[in-house]
Amino acid sequence: MKAAFVQTAPVFGEARINVDRAVEKIEKLDASLIVLPELYSTGYQFRSKKELLELAEEVPSGYATKRLNEVAKAKGAFIVAGLAERVGKKAYNSAVLVGPKGLIGTYRKAHLFWDEKKIFARGDTPFKVYRAGKVRVGMMICFDWLFPEAARALALQGADIICHPSNLVLPYCPAAMITRSLENRVFTITANRVGTEERVPGKKLKFIGSSQVTSPYGEVLVRAGSKKEEAASVEIDHLMARGKRITPLNDIFKDRRTDLFFK
Ligand code: ACM
Repeated sequence: MKAAFVQTAPVFGEARINVDRAVEKIEKLDASLIVLPELYSTGYQFRSKKELLELAEEVPSGYATKRLNEVAKAKGAFIVAGLAERVGKKAYNSAVLVGPKGLIGTYRKAHLFWDEKKIFARGDTPFKVYRAGKVRVGMMICFDWLFPEAARALALQGADIICHPSNLVLPYCPAAMITRSLENRVFTITANRVGTEERVPGKKLKFIGSSQVTSPYGEVLVRAGSKKEEAASVEIDHLMARGKRITPLNDIFKDRRTDLFFK
């Protein structure tokens, strides 16, 4: 199968433009699983909860999910994308998994980063694995990378590929995701954005790009640069993630000393 990321540079608040541009990029890709960044339709730095609620959309009826459904159906592909999800008077920093038959699952970001804590509701969805055709897919969002339990929970439930929409500003994540791959023997696809936002004076954010696909053996199969919009797809064998044996006598899941972890 071919797995891909689309690295974008959204214009804050211009959901129609951002969604249509992302869909155009998806249309050109040769891949059956495609990951877009966190908050791909809106941009990142909301000035207030009010502004967030105005721009957030219901899932799956909002434009950002609907257009992904359409392109997933046309391509026969699965897509994971981050977006601001409105539920009544709350908004979640969510990721959706859509396929040729529509919405498959929604994950709401568990570990909110910095000012996200002031405006988004904390995620309330479990870390869950979904089927995307033959492949088992898990979702986590950006800052979740710093909490190894997120990737571990997905891997223990059988994820082959962890899809990781991101808006990274700290430099550590691309290297850390190699470890998340190795310690769980899974593929990861991090889709990040590029560009800067300074909608709050004095709080300039520079997004680091460097979207990548990593293998269960800790290889970086493809990595984007840090400045431009880019898309890349890579051939992977998702079944590589099913074997957890690292020597004839070691299985990285069965060897876990859970009896000693919390005494
Ligand atoms: C992040 O979680 N957007 C850094």
